[in-house]
Amino acid sequence: MTLESIASQLEQIEAEAAHAAAAARSLDELARVQAQFMGRKGSLRQILRSLGGVPKEQRAAAGERANQAKQRVGEVLGRRQSDLRAAGVADEQARARSFDPTLPGPSPRLGSAHPVTAVQWEIEDLFARLGFVVATGPEMETEYYNFEALNTPADHPARDLQDTFWLTNGMLLRTQTSAVQVRAMERLGAPIRIICPGRCFRPETVDASHDCAFFQLEGLMVDDNISIANLIAIMKLLVSQIFQRDVPTRLRPGYFPFVEPGFELDICCTICNGRGCATCKKSGWVELLPCGMVHPNVLRAGGVDPHEYTGFAFGLGLTRMAMMKYGIGDIRVMNSGDLRALTPPTKLAGPAIVAKD
Ligand code: DAH
Repeated sequence: MTLESIASQLEQIEAEAAHAAAAARSLDELARVQAQFMGRKGSLRQILRSLGGVPKEQRAAAGERANQAKQRVGEVLGRRQSDLRAAGVADEQARARSFDPTLPGPSPRLGSAHPVTAVQWEIEDLFARLGFVVATGPEMETEYYNFEALNTPADHPARDLQDTFWLTNGMLLRTQTSAVQVRAMERLGAPIRIICPGRCFRPETVDASHDCAFFQLEGLMVDDNISIANLIAIMKLLVSQIFQRDVPTRLRPGYFPFVEPGFELDICCTICNGRGCATCKKSGWVELLPCGMVHPNVLRAGGVDPHEYTGFAFGLGLTRMAMMKYGIGDIRVMNSGDLRALTPPTKLAGPAIVAKD
């Protein structure tokens, strides 16, 4: 090894390093270049190790030249590193500049509420304003809450009015949201104002107006001196909320074991305005809302003293209501997933206050 050969090798290394540094497109790539030339196994180190083979009188000069090469390569790499850093920052700034925060964002593809949900929200909204809370109960229910606590013991003829899905575990699928009444009174006591929307089940032969699964919305208000006048006032409010106008109503006696007296609230047919048509079977009236004054036995089952409190209850057919409101003629559409029928124009109301089980 001579000084000359060392010098020419170093020159070569300097040139190669400058070339490789310029070609590095990222800081990672540059780090690899650095290792290649200056790392422990890098080419500069190898030269330094071979200095021992240079004649003694040339050794100092060779060493000096090697150090100079090391410094030059270091500088080249350092410059390239700051260039790459600056370019990265500039890139980021350019990206930030090209983002226009005033552009409207992509609108999220929101679905819409099912017609039953839409009507349910409207009614919840109304009742929330009247101080009612939403109560819930299980769909798999005990015979006790669905029937017995509602003044309907096993041998009661009213049991025949509601065919029931009995389960092998001795429970049943609730036939009515009325099942929540006693649960709610047990939990919240009196006075109480609740509504309970929910799915109910009955073994029906499915046709255009019957389904095995449908929605009801139950209401219960118990307080001092609740009378039929309160019941009528609230029912009228409910009807005008649903139809967005005053609709004439009438009360007829109706039998339900858990109310006394019990009523059927009819509305003047909204199709023919009471003149008589196919929908109202020429009577001018449509059955809408079964309701009544809560039977003392039901209050007692809920732990409420019937001498101290009275109350009213109603059970609205929510599915039927949604069909009437949105002009859906076939109940089977409701569970069909057919989006043409299932997209009512709804505003997304916030959830009502929920008293969960
Ligand atoms: N649960 C009854 C049904 O499904 C409807 C009903 C009638 C509910 C009268 C009530 C009521 O709360 O007071 O047929």
